[in-house]
Amino acid sequence: VRDGNGVKGLVDSGVSEVPERYIQAPRERMNEHDTRACDAPPIDLSKLNGPEHEKVVDEIARAAETLGFFQVVNHGVPLELLEDLKDAAHTFFSLPPEMKARYCSGVSPSPRVKYGTSFVPEKEKALEWKDYISMTYSSDEEALQCWPNQCKEVALEYLKLSTKMVRGIVEALIRKLGVRMDDSKMEGLLGMKMVNMNYYPACPNPELTVGVGRHSDMGAITVLLQDGIGGLYVKVDEQNDADKGEWLEIPPIPGALVINVGDTLQILSNGKYKSAEHRVRTTSTQSRVSVPVFTMPVATERIGPLAEVVEKDGLARYREVVLQDYMNNFFGNAHAGKKSLDFAR
Ligand code: SIN
Ligand code: FE2
Repeated sequence: VRDGNGVKGLVDSGVSEVPERYIQAPRERMNEHDTRACDAPPIDLSKLNGPEHEKVVDEIARAAETLGFFQVVNHGVPLELLEDLKDAAHTFFSLPPEMKARYCSGVSPSPRVKYGTSFVPEKEKALEWKDYISMTYSSDEEALQCWPNQCKEVALEYLKLSTKMVRGIVEALIRKLGVRMDDSKMEGLLGMKMVNMNYYPACPNPELTVGVGRHSDMGAITVLLQDGIGGLYVKVDEQNDADKGEWLEIPPIPGALVINVGDTLQILSNGKYKSAEHRVRTTSTQSRVSVPVFTMPVATERIGPLAEVVEKDGLARYREVVLQDYMNNFFGNAHAGKKSLDFAR
């Protein structure tokens, strides 16, 4: 296996220059001029349960309609757990290569636990400077049995608290569309949950590489814990072109979580909510960790623009697709901006 010890293994072996296969085409490299940071204040989610409920719902909806990214505080995930998660990520990726390799696809104790490097290495023109472990939830028993010891308890607790928060956010967003969704439909929409740990080692040539190439997320909502290093950028406009449009950094805010809309919600809302294109740069000075939780519909679910919204808009901007097909397309191709959405057009 190419780079079987991950990018971390490559760095630990002492490379002083990145190998050719990590060098991005010039148009995909991060632009040094992209230094502006998003200055939107984080949204206080505790107010969802108080007299300012409507105001917070409006803030969430406005953020979802414009940038597609926002940060939240008082989100119900204890700050101590956030610290433990970052520590757990560092602990896991610092394990000897042979211990991490136990979670490689094919030998992993569960098909839902996967350690890997880059995104779809077989399809990418240039690899991403990133290692990850991905854990899809099926039951507490499986998580405690098959997820790595270094992170299983904290990752499971974080997944549960995050998905509870996501439910509140999605309920607010759906209600703002003028749609009433019953519990079973809502559970179908948010039925698949996955927690990842990402590791971006310090990179000798940050100007030539990316941590993650430009893409949008496929699910409903992503919750992201990032550490203090920074490097997550979001595209301000919607043009699917690397050279055009401004990129804004989502700056680390201690104790906050980053929330972003995924393709599923863009499709359901008939384009009202934005699944934002984003990417991650590398740096030469420190290694960065991030811990996303993805929520998406169960694979058998059909997703398409909600009937009430289509009626109001007078047209459907997307066709209905079975999530499994959408996923196969998404995970079967390299990152390419918002191209993933073309599958539903
Ligand atoms: C991603 O969007 O795939 C990763 C985001 C991050 O690490 O900040
Ligand atoms: Fe992403």
